[in-house]
Amino acid sequence: MAQLWGGRFTKETDKLVYQFNASITFDKKLFEQDIEGSIAHVVMLEKQGILSCDEKDAIVKGLTGIRKDVEEGTLFITDEYEDIHSFIEASLIDRIGDAGKKMHTGRSRNDQVALDMKLYVRSEVLHVSEHLQELLETLISIMEENLTTYMPGFTHLQKAQPTTLAHHMGAYFEMFKRDVLRLKDIYKRMNVCPLGSGAFAGTTYPLDRSYTASLMGFEGPTLNSMDSVADRDYIIEFLSALSTIMMHLSRFSEEIIIWNSNEYRFVEIDDGFSTGSSIMPQKKNPDIAELVRGKTGRVYGALMSILTTMKGLPLAYNKDMQEDKEVTFDAIETVKNCLVLFNGMLSTMKFNHKVMEESAMKGFTNATDAADYLVNKGVPFRDAHGIIGQLVLYCIEKNSSIDALSIEELRAISPVFDVDVYDAISLKTCVEKRLTIGAPGQKAMEEVIRINKEFLNQLKA
Ligand code: ARG
Repeated sequence: MAQLWGGRFTKETDKLVYQFNASITFDKKLFEQDIEGSIAHVVMLEKQGILSCDEKDAIVKGLTGIRKDVEEGTLFITDEYEDIHSFIEASLIDRIGDAGKKMHTGRSRNDQVALDMKLYVRSEVLHVSEHLQELLETLISIMEENLTTYMPGFTHLQKAQPTTLAHHMGAYFEMFKRDVLRLKDIYKRMNVCPLGSGAFAGTTYPLDRSYTASLMGFEGPTLNSMDSVADRDYIIEFLSALSTIMMHLSRFSEEIIIWNSNEYRFVEIDDGFSTGSSIMPQKKNPDIAELVRGKTGRVYGALMSILTTMKGLPLAYNKDMQEDKEVTFDAIETVKNCLVLFNGMLSTMKFNHKVMEESAMKGFTNATDAADYLVNKGVPFRDAHGIIGQLVLYCIEKNSSIDALSIEELRAISPVFDVDVYDAISLKTCVEKRLTIGAPGQKAMEEVIRINKEFLNQLKA
């Protein structure tokens, strides 16, 4: 048992208590961040005359040595230490002796852990954003290739109006675009540095908090030392954004599962991204999509977990907050894996254009356009709606579609119909006439693709 405290204790910690309290098994993930923060801290201590140049150099050298040895696998982070902070400090003192004991001057594990988590989350915000951008690239290329791939659009999972595959994929593009923008907002808001807040009341040493903040790429220092060590809002915001990403991925997965079913056959998932059944030889299952849908609950769970952990905590630091780590680490890994696998599945998936188009021709997806045709001939919309309703009923009885009826049959229900109706309600017209921005008509979609490509380019810049 190796811990940083003990002076005021007369008895050894109970073994079970020690294990219950320790966090090294999971906070070793913060190794890099802890070293980075410690280097910035001692560089500042020297600048402020709190450490000598030699002491600073010895500590920085010791820390970089520890980093190198851990990376190369010659030094192991073992469970005999209470947490990653203790491991690094003890290893440092082991290496450089007394100078190492000065590293923690003007610092508490409370601001140290707040910093480490912030550094970790901040870089993961960028990693998740990169994965989202890869998915957006896939979506935009599917959109570009499918401007005239007609398919039915649904409401209540009932065929509603025809649209295009580009338009349908474009809906997901907008969702994931909002996710990227959400991450940008979070990054900006969280990018202030808690280091130098001490246990919660700052410190009597003349620390230069702006300097340490700038060394680690923060906008500046946080403005209340009590809030700094007690704040986990940025984790909650990030988990909330991750939950929204998963919600989007899960809806998309659900559609792919439906589209991949025997009844739909709109898509075929590539063999490399499907799995088989141990008993039914004919099966090719959409397991990736199902797992993404399933893992959504796990990420929501992380968000709920931290919201609940934080809700009753008095200021400032409480050990409850150690519970922020495992679920957050797990949620981040889960979302990154889901994004990578989903993108792989989507980019290799085959869309059955013919099946989609045939499906769009059935189910009276042109009923709205047939009503609009009558409106254009002067029939009030409510009356037109009624006339087309009668037509649909007639078609159902005859097992036909509106555009397959003869002009005589159409006129028997409304004399307003003329032969130009066939062109007006053709699948192509139904889609291509929808030209307001955001609608599926080709020209409108081309404009949206142009805007979104510019968005992607700006992200890269
Ligand atoms: N392992 C702790 C955590 O993750 C580090 C901070 C410990 N601070 C303390 N006062 N015990 O929150």
